[in-house]
Amino acid sequence: MISKCLFPAAGYGTRFLPATKAMPKEMLPILTKPLIQYGVEEAMDAGCDIMSIITGRGKRAITDHFDISYELEHQIKGSSKEALLSDIRKIIDKCTFTYTRQNEMKGSGRRPICKGRVLVGEQDPFAVILADDLCVNPDGEGVLRQMIDLCNKYRCCIVAIMEVPTEEVHKYGVIEGKRIEVGVYMVSNMVEKPDNDKAPSNLVVIGRYILTPDIFGVIEQTEPGKNGELQITDALCEQAKNGMVIAYKFKGKRFDCGSVDGFVEATNYFYALEKGE
Ligand code: G1P
Repeated sequence: MISKCLFPAAGYGTRFLPATKAMPKEMLPILTKPLIQYGVEEAMDAGCDIMSIITGRGKRAITDHFDISYELEHQIKGSSKEALLSDIRKIIDKCTFTYTRQNEMKGSGRRPICKGRVLVGEQDPFAVILADDLCVNPDGEGVLRQMIDLCNKYRCCIVAIMEVPTEEVHKYGVIEGKRIEVGVYMVSNMVEKPDNDKAPSNLVVIGRYILTPDIFGVIEQTEPGKNGELQITDALCEQAKNGMVIAYKFKGKRFDCGSVDGFVEATNYFYALEKGE
């Protein structure tokens, strides 16, 4: 049973400056909903009810978003606007939010994940969502739910992957592995942002992980990788050498909302959906 989901959300979001100068990038809205709320809803749909968020300086808006705003709710009570808060209200009622602040904003690996240790504990596997990657599956279960089903079967770390054109692999963590069932690979090697011509495959990791708590010990032993940053990919690669990582080609669609292009694409997708186009 996976009840906790970790959200590293301490980054600066420099690609969205000046919008992110005083506002967390996780709060940028796709239509009327902040990016991080999509991630939290995906985690909730997958059965998680403890959302552990690693924040940092200037990220107070995230904490406030996942809390009741008495004045506002009082103000719009009985009006047509009340319905606009029903989704967030459901989240607040169902989930517990825990936070810790990361004081240095580097890497997606050791610092944030280790900071998360105190929040997710060391008893059970936990999920990780990088909210920049917005995932949808209009035909069925959300991506995290699909991964949890697989974790129940294989009982090890799971990473979500997708195929990209070779010229794009340098933007991602890339896996090497053996296919063991349709869309499922036993990972033998992982490389963070390799040169396009040195990548072991075109199967890349997106921001959805299920990690077993032994990852914390492995992260502690792992040397800084790409750009001197401590990457989760490098710790997972160590786990993979012991046959402890499964890569899963998820069903659905992923938008790279860490880039302006992906953000606009996601906005257009949800807008068309809302208009019934
Ligand atoms: C992070 C991970 C990378 C992964 C990517 C998915 O990179 O380090 O392995 O492929 O997320 O979005 P970032 O995009 O934070 O540079």
